[in-house]
Amino acid sequence: MHSTFQPIVILISGGGSNMAAIVSVAQKDAWSERLGARVVAVLSNKPDAGGLRLARALGIATEVLEHRAYANREIFDQALAAVIARYDQPQRPCLVVLAGFMRILTPGFVAEHAGRLLNIHPSLLPAFTGLHTHQRALEAGCKFAGATVHQVSAELDSGAILEQSVVPVLARDTAETLAQRVLATEHQIYPRAIAKWLVQRQAQAGESPIR
Ligand code: GRF
Repeated sequence: MHSTFQPIVILISGGGSNMAAIVSVAQKDAWSERLGARVVAVLSNKPDAGGLRLARALGIATEVLEHRAYANREIFDQALAAVIARYDQPQRPCLVVLAGFMRILTPGFVAEHAGRLLNIHPSLLPAFTGLHTHQRALEAGCKFAGATVHQVSAELDSGAILEQSVVPVLARDTAETLAQRVLATEHQIYPRAIAKWLVQRQAQAGESPIR
Protein backbone atom coordinates (compact mmCIF):
# COMPACT_ATOMS: atom_id res chain seq x y z
CA MET A 1 0.00 0.00 0.00
CA HIS A 2 1.19 3.54 -0.68
CA SER A 3 1.74 5.64 2.44
CA THR A 4 0.70 8.70 0.49
CA PHE A 5 -1.06 8.84 -2.84
CA GLN A 6 -1.28 11.01 -5.93
CA PRO A 7 -4.48 13.06 -5.67
CA ILE A 8 -6.33 13.85 -8.90
CA VAL A 9 -8.77 16.76 -9.12
CA ILE A 10 -11.00 17.02 -12.19
CA LEU A 11 -12.38 20.40 -13.33
CA ILE A 12 -15.60 20.48 -15.35
CA SER A 13 -18.17 22.97 -16.65
CA GLY A 14 -20.72 20.72 -18.35
CA GLY A 15 -21.91 17.18 -18.89
CA GLY A 16 -18.82 15.57 -17.46
CA SER A 17 -18.67 12.52 -19.72
CA ASN A 18 -14.86 12.66 -19.84
CA MET A 19 -14.75 12.97 -16.06
CA ALA A 20 -17.04 9.93 -15.72
CA ALA A 21 -14.87 7.95 -18.15
CA ILE A 22 -11.74 8.78 -16.13
CA VAL A 23 -13.36 7.87 -12.80
CA SER A 24 -14.74 4.62 -14.24
CA VAL A 25 -11.35 3.55 -15.63
CA ALA A 26 -9.66 4.56 -12.35
CA GLN A 27 -12.06 2.31 -10.46
CA LYS A 28 -12.00 -0.58 -12.96
CA ASP A 29 -8.21 -0.56 -13.34
CA ALA A 30 -7.61 -0.08 -9.59
CA TRP A 31 -5.48 3.06 -9.96
CA SER A 32 -5.48 3.38 -6.19
CA GLU A 33 -3.68 0.06 -5.70
CA ARG A 34 -1.75 -0.14 -8.99
CA LEU A 35 -0.78 3.47 -9.58
CA GLY A 36 -1.13 4.99 -6.13
CA ALA A 37 -3.61 7.56 -7.42
CA ARG A 38 -7.14 8.59 -6.50
CA VAL A 39 -9.68 10.97 -7.99
CA VAL A 40 -10.39 13.00 -4.87
CA ALA A 41 -12.72 15.73 -6.13
CA VAL A 42 -14.63 17.15 -9.07
CA LEU A 43 -14.82 20.95 -9.19
CA SER A 44 -17.15 22.95 -11.40
CA ASN A 45 -17.38 26.66 -12.16
CA LYS A 46 -21.08 26.13 -12.97
CA PRO A 47 -23.55 25.06 -10.29
CA ASP A 48 -25.83 23.41 -12.87
CA ALA A 49 -23.12 21.32 -14.58
CA GLY A 50 -24.63 17.89 -15.25
CA GLY A 51 -21.30 16.30 -14.39
CA LEU A 52 -21.72 17.20 -10.71
CA ARG A 53 -24.59 14.73 -10.33
CA LEU A 54 -22.63 12.10 -12.24
CA ALA A 55 -19.61 12.59 -9.99
CA ARG A 56 -21.68 12.23 -6.83
CA ALA A 57 -23.25 9.05 -8.22
CA LEU A 58 -19.71 7.73 -8.73
CA GLY A 59 -18.89 8.51 -5.09
CA ILE A 60 -16.62 11.49 -5.74
CA ALA A 61 -16.70 14.68 -3.65
CA THR A 62 -17.84 17.76 -5.58
CA GLU A 63 -17.39 21.48 -5.11
CA VAL A 64 -18.69 24.50 -7.02
CA LEU A 65 -16.80 27.76 -7.46
CA GLU A 66 -18.98 30.10 -9.47
CA HIS A 67 -16.64 32.28 -11.49
CA ARG A 68 -19.21 35.08 -11.66
CA ALA A 69 -18.90 35.55 -7.91
CA TYR A 70 -15.28 36.71 -8.32
CA ALA A 71 -14.21 40.20 -9.38
CA ASN A 72 -11.77 39.08 -12.04
CA ARG A 73 -9.98 36.13 -13.58
CA GLU A 74 -6.93 36.39 -11.29
CA ILE A 75 -9.03 36.34 -8.13
CA PHE A 76 -11.11 33.41 -9.39
CA ASP A 77 -7.99 31.44 -10.29
CA GLN A 78 -6.45 32.14 -6.87
CA ALA A 79 -9.60 30.83 -5.19
CA LEU A 80 -9.57 27.79 -7.48
CA ALA A 81 -5.92 27.10 -6.67
CA ALA A 82 -6.68 27.36 -2.95
CA VAL A 83 -9.49 24.79 -3.20
CA ILE A 84 -7.29 22.43 -5.22
CA ALA A 85 -4.44 22.82 -2.70
CA ARG A 86 -6.72 21.53 0.04
CA TYR A 87 -6.58 18.14 -1.70
CA ASP A 88 -2.76 18.06 -1.94
CA GLN A 89 -1.03 15.19 -0.15
CA PRO A 90 2.35 15.48 1.59
CA GLN A 91 4.96 15.73 -1.21
CA ARG A 92 2.16 15.11 -3.72
CA PRO A 93 0.47 18.19 -5.17
CA CYS A 94 -2.69 17.39 -7.13
CA LEU A 95 -2.74 16.36 -10.76
CA VAL A 96 -5.28 18.80 -12.21
CA VAL A 97 -7.35 17.39 -15.07
CA LEU A 98 -9.40 19.80 -17.19
CA ALA A 99 -12.34 17.90 -18.65
CA GLY A 100 -14.63 20.27 -20.51
CA PHE A 101 -13.62 23.12 -18.19
CA MET A 102 -14.64 26.16 -20.21
CA ARG A 103 -12.41 28.77 -18.60
CA ILE A 104 -9.12 30.18 -19.81
CA LEU A 105 -6.69 29.94 -16.92
CA THR A 106 -4.34 32.76 -15.97
CA PRO A 107 -0.57 32.42 -16.56
CA GLY A 108 -0.12 32.44 -12.77
CA PHE A 109 -2.39 29.42 -12.30
CA VAL A 110 -0.76 27.58 -15.20
CA ALA A 111 2.75 28.27 -13.85
CA GLU A 112 1.80 27.11 -10.36
CA HIS A 113 0.50 23.78 -11.74
CA ALA A 114 3.09 23.34 -14.51
CA GLY A 115 3.69 19.72 -15.46
CA ARG A 116 0.62 18.51 -13.57
CA LEU A 117 -2.11 20.26 -15.54
CA LEU A 118 -3.74 18.32 -18.40
CA ASN A 119 -6.47 19.19 -20.89
CA ILE A 120 -8.43 17.51 -23.64
CA HIS A 121 -9.26 19.45 -26.78
CA PRO A 122 -11.64 18.18 -29.46
CA SER A 123 -9.37 18.60 -32.49
CA LEU A 124 -6.12 17.27 -33.85
CA LEU A 125 -3.91 19.97 -32.40
CA PRO A 126 -2.18 22.11 -33.49
CA ALA A 127 -5.14 22.45 -35.90
CA PHE A 128 -8.26 24.22 -34.66
CA THR A 129 -7.39 25.64 -31.28
CA GLY A 130 -10.28 27.44 -29.57
CA LEU A 131 -14.01 26.87 -30.08
CA HIS A 132 -16.28 25.28 -32.73
CA THR A 133 -13.61 22.79 -33.72
CA HIS A 134 -15.92 20.30 -35.46
CA GLN A 135 -17.71 22.90 -37.58
CA ARG A 136 -14.36 24.38 -38.58
CA ALA A 137 -12.96 20.95 -39.48
CA LEU A 138 -16.01 20.32 -41.71
CA GLU A 139 -15.72 23.73 -43.35
CA ALA A 140 -12.01 23.15 -44.01
CA GLY A 141 -12.86 19.88 -45.79
CA CYS A 142 -10.84 17.74 -43.38
CA LYS A 143 -10.97 14.01 -44.05
CA PHE A 144 -10.00 13.24 -40.46
CA ALA A 145 -10.83 14.85 -37.15
CA GLY A 146 -10.00 13.82 -33.61
CA ALA A 147 -9.03 14.85 -30.12
CA THR A 148 -5.83 15.69 -28.27
CA VAL A 149 -4.76 15.29 -24.66
CA HIS A 150 -2.04 17.79 -23.87
CA GLN A 151 -0.13 19.47 -21.09
CA VAL A 152 -1.46 22.95 -20.44
CA SER A 153 0.95 25.79 -21.13
CA ALA A 154 0.48 29.55 -21.00
CA GLU A 155 -0.68 29.70 -24.63
CA LEU A 156 -4.19 28.35 -25.39
CA ASP A 157 -4.34 24.67 -26.53
CA SER A 158 -0.61 24.53 -27.22
CA GLY A 159 1.22 22.46 -24.58
CA ALA A 160 3.04 19.16 -25.24
CA ILE A 161 0.81 16.55 -26.90
CA LEU A 162 0.33 13.35 -24.85
CA GLU A 163 -2.29 11.38 -26.83
CA GLN A 164 -4.41 11.82 -29.94
CA SER A 165 -7.37 9.98 -31.45
CA VAL A 166 -8.26 10.07 -35.13
CA VAL A 167 -11.80 9.81 -36.49
CA PRO A 168 -12.68 9.73 -40.23
CA VAL A 169 -15.01 12.51 -41.36
CA LEU A 170 -18.03 11.02 -43.13
CA ALA A 171 -19.79 12.66 -46.09
CA ARG A 172 -23.04 13.01 -44.14
CA ASP A 173 -21.40 14.39 -40.97
CA THR A 174 -22.72 17.47 -39.19
CA ALA A 175 -20.78 19.18 -36.42
CA GLU A 176 -22.99 17.27 -33.97
CA THR A 177 -22.48 13.78 -35.40
CA LEU A 178 -18.75 14.37 -35.73
CA ALA A 179 -18.58 15.70 -32.15
CA GLN A 180 -20.33 12.57 -30.87
CA ARG A 181 -17.87 10.20 -32.55
CA VAL A 182 -14.87 12.26 -31.43
CA LEU A 183 -16.23 12.38 -27.87
CA ALA A 184 -16.42 8.57 -27.75
CA THR A 185 -12.67 8.47 -28.52
CA GLU A 186 -11.95 11.15 -25.90
CA HIS A 187 -13.27 8.70 -23.31
CA GLN A 188 -10.55 6.25 -24.37
CA ILE A 189 -7.52 8.51 -24.74
CA TYR A 190 -7.97 10.69 -21.65
CA PRO A 191 -7.84 7.87 -19.04
CA ARG A 192 -4.92 6.33 -20.99
CA ALA A 193 -2.95 9.58 -21.00
CA ILE A 194 -3.52 10.05 -17.27
CA ALA A 195 -2.44 6.48 -16.50
CA LYS A 196 0.77 7.09 -18.48
CA TRP A 197 1.36 10.33 -16.60
CA LEU A 198 0.96 8.45 -13.31
CA VAL A 199 3.38 5.70 -14.34
CA GLN A 200 5.94 8.34 -15.31
CA ARG A 201 5.48 10.12 -12.02
CA GLN A 202 6.05 6.85 -10.15
CA ALA A 203 9.22 6.26 -12.16
CA GLN A 204 10.48 9.77 -11.43
CA ALA A 205 9.77 9.25 -7.73
CA GLY A 206 11.67 5.97 -7.83
CA GLU A 207 8.59 3.90 -6.99
CA SER A 208 7.91 0.63 -8.75
CA PRO A 209 4.47 0.07 -10.24
CA ILE A 210 2.35 -2.40 -8.28
CA ARG A 211 0.72 -5.08 -10.45
C1 GRF B 1 -15.31 17.58 -24.84
O1 GRF B 1 -15.52 17.47 -26.22
C2 GRF B 1 -13.98 18.23 -24.57
O2 GRF B 1 -13.00 17.86 -25.49
C3 GRF B 1 -14.32 19.68 -24.73
O3 GRF B 1 -15.59 19.82 -24.12
C4 GRF B 1 -16.27 18.57 -24.20
C5 GRF B 1 -16.63 18.20 -22.79
O4 GRF B 1 -17.49 17.11 -22.74
N1 GRF B 1 -13.31 20.52 -24.18
P1 GRF B 1 -17.81 16.43 -21.35
O5 GRF B 1 -18.23 17.52 -20.37
O6 GRF B 1 -16.58 15.71 -20.88
O7 GRF B 1 -18.95 15.48 -21.63
